[in-house]
Amino acid sequence: MPKRHLITSALPYANGPLHIGHIAGAYLPADIYVRYLRAKHGHENVLFVCGSDEHGAAISMKAIKEGTTPKEIVDRFHDINKSAFRNFGIDFDIYHRTSSELHHQTSQDFFLKLHEKGAFKKVVNEQMYDPEAKQFLADRFIMGTCPNCGHDQAYGDQCENCGKTLSPAELINPHSTLSGAKPELKETWHFYLPMGDHAEWIEAFIKDGKLDGDAHHDANLWKKHVVGQCLSWIQGGLNDRAMTRDLDWGVPVPIEGTEGKVLYVWLDAPIGYISATKQWAKDQGNEQDWERWWKDADTDMIHFIGKDNIVFHCIIFPILLKSHGGFNLPINVPANEFLNLEGDKISTSRNHAVWLHEYLEDFPERTDELRYVLASIAPESKDSEFIWKDFQARVNNELVAILGNFINRVVVLTNKYYQGAIPEGSVDDEIKDQCEKIKAAVGAHMDAFKFRDALAEAMNLARYGNKYLADLEPWKLQKTDPEAVKGIMLNALHISAELANVSDTFLPATADRIREMLRIDKVFRGFLEGHEIGAAKLLFTKVEDADVEQQVNKLEAAKAAKQQAEEEPEARPFKDNIAFDDFTKMDMRIGTIKTAEKVKKADRLLQLSVDLGSEVRTIVSGIAEHYTTEEVIGRQVTVLTNLEPRKIKGIESQGMILMAEDSSGKLAFVSPPKDFESGAEVR
Ligand code: 2FM
Ligand code: ZN
Repeated sequence: MPKRHLITSALPYANGPLHIGHIAGAYLPADIYVRYLRAKHGHENVLFVCGSDEHGAAISMKAIKEGTTPKEIVDRFHDINKSAFRNFGIDFDIYHRTSSELHHQTSQDFFLKLHEKGAFKKVVNEQMYDPEAKQFLADRFIMGTCPNCGHDQAYGDQCENCGKTLSPAELINPHSTLSGAKPELKETWHFYLPMGDHAEWIEAFIKDGKLDGDAHHDANLWKKHVVGQCLSWIQGGLNDRAMTRDLDWGVPVPIEGTEGKVLYVWLDAPIGYISATKQWAKDQGNEQDWERWWKDADTDMIHFIGKDNIVFHCIIFPILLKSHGGFNLPINVPANEFLNLEGDKISTSRNHAVWLHEYLEDFPERTDELRYVLASIAPESKDSEFIWKDFQARVNNELVAILGNFINRVVVLTNKYYQGAIPEGSVDDEIKDQCEKIKAAVGAHMDAFKFRDALAEAMNLARYGNKYLADLEPWKLQKTDPEAVKGIMLNALHISAELANVSDTFLPATADRIREMLRIDKVFRGFLEGHEIGAAKLLFTKVEDADVEQQVNKLEAAKAAKQQAEEEPEARPFKDNIAFDDFTKMDMRIGTIKTAEKVKKADRLLQLSVDLGSEVRTIVSGIAEHYTTEEVIGRQVTVLTNLEPRKIKGIESQGMILMAEDSSGKLAFVSPPKDFESGAEVR
């Protein structure tokens, strides 16, 4: 029975586009591995699932900011990301969504099973609450000043300026992003996973690859930084983790009396891998088929993620799967570290990123170039960096000069000498051996999750081909010994065909183009007699200095634009329409301020007497930070006269003075242009 593989890539949040950091972290490595496995074990024995993570506070927040609904946000980015993946050649078997009915059902069933088994405990505690919006606040919904760097727009979970992880309690001057109110602590309760109860087995699982005393996987194949991060968590003590949240956007907790609670990310996003598999099986016409991918002993599951999701996939998700029972645990989680960009961290909030969909618009013909560079510099064991100049150098010096050059020479010479017809004869054993040796080395690196080394090895086949031609110089020999040249060209054509095969794993579009030129299929078992190849087409073209300059300028401009936008205040949305009758209910008059004095123990308040023609009213107004008492006496202002009287600091205020407020919060009277009769109506 062939080995089956289930490969997952972290579900990206559908609240923004993908950048090259995401791609180099969790998607390109997975796709490369999947292509390798499909070639080795057959497409039908490999399943590659992913999809949009459509829940979470960040999505609700973006919706509020844009004045739209979470649904509109996730619909938009699901489509953008799905097509960016497709256009980049990331070949998922399914790209599913967590807003689907099937996913909700699957997550709820999973939760219920755990609940029935007593896997959770209820914990009552206090959480941040917005008293005005009347809802609990996810950490993301609380903003304030970062205690670390002073940035005044730090989130309750993290400062995006300095990167520090925060808790809402650490913020200086915290406020709710929903209403602006100061958050309060309020009692609530949630289902918690007592992770400490699982510490022993999970430690053995990570450290030795053992599960219930038996070998589960080869722990030597796990990346050091992954194991290191997990062990330091485990050894630091595993705390209880909340599995639910008070939110209105997400998968509702399927139990009575839990209104307003949803499943938190741990019981939502990774269950998305399961629901994606179910949907795929359904689409194939065999609904139950999903189970063998998750439950059969002969399926190996591997999660591709970025380093921010290591504990999630190596500790929390395995605990959930094992507590549920019946599911396989991952045999590896080859997480990547982070990719930096031009000397700086990639940052969505500062718009310092190369966005995949924009790259594809700028360079529609260069998907494999980016795949090549990102695979070459992937942050497999430590953070790495993308630099446009380096991108240019790798494309020009490696893809153009080595791979492209070799294939082009072979195809051009075959056409020139033989009008495309393959010379008769047999390929030298030495050439065949060398190809096999390199393919085996590529495979060994792939099996060890060392994809950078695998790619470098694949390029060695092109180097070998180039050297072979350069050493034998068929273009010179053709004049003196054309028979010998036939053998050389046949060997070179064999290397070219093998190159198409090894390129398949990393550079699928290039592999297809090579095969198209050579007119061969994916399964290559040697050229048949009388085979004719097609015309030469360049595989790659040079990246020009101007391209690099344009991209670097684009990065700078995007960052600057974002900064400027942030400095400019947000336009306040207009309020909903009201009926004309409602408007006419307001009685507004021009008044003249006669006297003014400061209100005791209230820095912001002035007590005014205002002449409204037929009467003089006392009005308390919060303008003391904007006007002195001397400045206001004699000024004409607009007064809302029929606002219900209110006691302010013990003084009855009989109306309200209307003020204009600018974006910096400065207040100014709304006054008629010249002396007007006191009591004149405003309408
Ligand atoms: O961190 C994230 O991007 C989340 N959307 C979760 C990804 S992992 C998951 F899919 F399990
Ligand atoms: Zn900070």
